[in-house]
Amino acid sequence: MVELFERIAQRIGDGGELVALTGAGISAESGIPTFRGDDGFWTRGSTNYRPEELATWRTFASDPELVWPWYLWRLARCRDAQPNPGHTALVDMDEALGNRFTLVTQNVDGLHSRAGSPEHRSYHIHGNLERMRCSAECNANTWPVPDALRVFAKGDAITPADEPLLRCPSCDAWARPHVLWFDECYDEKWFRYRSSMSAAMAADVLLVVGTSGSTNLPMQMASQALRSKALIVEINLRESAFSDYAVQSGGGLVTGPAGTLLPKLARRLASGSSA
Ligand code: OAD
Repeated sequence: MVELFERIAQRIGDGGELVALTGAGISAESGIPTFRGDDGFWTRGSTNYRPEELATWRTFASDPELVWPWYLWRLARCRDAQPNPGHTALVDMDEALGNRFTLVTQNVDGLHSRAGSPEHRSYHIHGNLERMRCSAECNANTWPVPDALRVFAKGDAITPADEPLLRCPSCDAWARPHVLWFDECYDEKWFRYRSSMSAAMAADVLLVVGTSGSTNLPMQMASQALRSKALIVEINLRESAFSDYAVQSGGGLVTGPAGTLLPKLARRLASGSSA
């Protein structure tokens, strides 16, 4: 048993709270590229645009028909993927710990939900590719990407037949992907900013899985968890921006694939504090 997993089990066994913070690395074993790896979405970009330009409100506001196809292609790719043992292990932890478990995910691929992580204990801090909302904010709802929309391949363009399905049913403005863009800010309403920070503050263990630490809220959560004296343990193939926080907390990095390590941790937690 990995020594750090033993320490997690001890903290959690005494009634402690576990917050799992996940990133693209947990879905890599399902075949979804990460963002910053060699084959990453952000590394390769689209044919003509760097993602930092494409994944912005500014670009969407000026040309929604440029932005939508890229998101619909990504959605098709995510729908083709299946949850892996890493996702399932987090469901097992949720079942073992109940309301002492919170999942905070940066992933918009929907694999945690499809694996069975309950929505009321899952914060999707970067949104969800399966949902859209009114770009004019005429209402405060999100709704599913319509089933009637065809499957997009890379490079497909929006056609007149697609367009009505990408409009707000209330006001007919363009719908937009329900994701956080580079020129937008975290908030509570759409992205559970305050809830995630509260979870980090209450955590006895912050488990950071498969994320490089390139975004703001996850790093704030790590900083908060450190101040609150949580144990921070990271599962990653390599060091990340979280690694120093983990060491400072008395935890550290467990090096290896999430799909192999998380099931081991889930089994350890299921066996209780004194196994
Ligand atoms: P990154 O691509 O930045 O980092 C992926 C991390 O996963 C790296 O640290 C890898 O070493 C690690 N990794 C890869 N395969 C793994 C495996 N099998 N097991 C464990 N770890 C593995 O992706 P994120 O950190 O998720 O935001 O990126 C954060 C955010 O940046 C994304 O949500 C996205 C992007 O801009 C938005 O779109 C708002």
